Amino acid sequence: MPEAKNVDFDRPGGYAMPKGATQVQRRAAKDLARDGVVKLLGDTVPAHVAKDETPTPAFQASDPDTRLFVGDCRDVLARLPDRGNVDLVFADPPFNWDVPYDEWRDGMPRAEFERFTFDWLDGCVDALAPHGSIWVNIPDDTAAEIVMHLKRRGLTMINWCVWHFRFGQNRDSSFIMSKVHALYFAKNPDERIWNPKDVLEQSDRASIYADPRTQAKDENKGMRVPMDVWYGPYWGRIQGNNTERRHRHHNQLPEVYLERVIRACSNEGSLVLDPFCGSGTTSTVARAWNRRSITIEYGAGNAESAWQRITQIGMLRKGLSSGGTSAIAPARATKKRRPSAPASDA
Ligand SMILES: C[S@@+](CC[C@H](N)C(=O)[O-])C[C@H]1O[C@@H](n2cnc3c(N)ncnc32)[C@H](O)[C@@H]1O
Repeated sequence: MPEAKNVDFDRPGGYAMPKGATQVQRRAAKDLARDGVVKLLGDTVPAHVAKDETPTPAFQASDPDTRLFVGDCRDVLARLPDRGNVDLVFADPPFNWDVPYDEWRDGMPRAEFERFTFDWLDGCVDALAPHGSIWVNIPDDTAAEIVMHLKRRGLTMINWCVWHFRFGQNRDSSFIMSKVHALYFAKNPDERIWNPKDVLEQSDRASIYADPRTQAKDENKGMRVPMDVWYGPYWGRIQGNNTERRHRHHNQLPEVYLERVIRACSNEGSLVLDPFCGSGTTSTVARAWNRRSITIEYGAGNAESAWQRITQIGMLRKGLSSGGTSAIAPARATKKRRPSAPASDA
């Protein structure tokens, strides 16, 4: 007997989440937060006690307001005057992989690293406005702990995206790492800022098959919201002679990544927060798109270099995260189709 097909989707057709899945997750997150049932290794270590000092920015610019604090983000977040008013957090933390950052020592015992992770996550969640969203860039070894911590803090997962890159470190002991997770959570999924039309890309139906049905749609002809695996031109790791590269910084993210997140999840004038400034990619892109931003960096040298990028160099690839195609097949000749046939998806 054929299986019954679930046709009750949030969007019609295809491989889609059933209606109500987000609400179910939201209720489950509330129960997790209330019952404290999830125990993780980091819970065995006492939480960080933040310094009792109001932080002042080391660097500041206007139009739009941009501030860079130098210090430990756990201390700055705890006393940030903007707590409760941040629209969007983007966090790309140290991964505890012994990376030689400027001043930060990137090699803690695992339990301490998890505690550190929960502490900065808590600082970010508390900084968010009730409608706020948070994105975390994190590899395989800590993704699960971050997902569970955000869920037990009562946030709802909107997407578990993947940033896929082709030039991972070569190895033969296991499959080569070619991705990092981009975890997208919201405090309130119904109230979050979400601008799908600002991040559209060409659908495969348009770019590979030149299907006239996608041009017959009433709006967004030939376009769709990007899928949840991100790759393509300008999406590679920033290394070698990449135009965007800021020497002396490690693990710099591509501008297109931040552009997609910031345009989709904030509005002009919104306040964006990045607790791990690095080379300043988030504030650089935020400024280019007229968003206010706050960023925090532990290393004073890193901070100075990032500020130069944010205020003097600016965004180099503005607009290149949308409008193109991520198709993995070349355009094909197709039989002429009747343009009047209804579009079934993108
Ligand atoms: C993965 S890098 C961020 C890269 C950034 N997304 C970019 O595109 O350039 C992490 C940065 O966080 C900084 N950092 C590490 N621990 C920190 C802490 N507790 N507070 C603030 N910054 C910290 C490191 O010095 C490093 O520059």
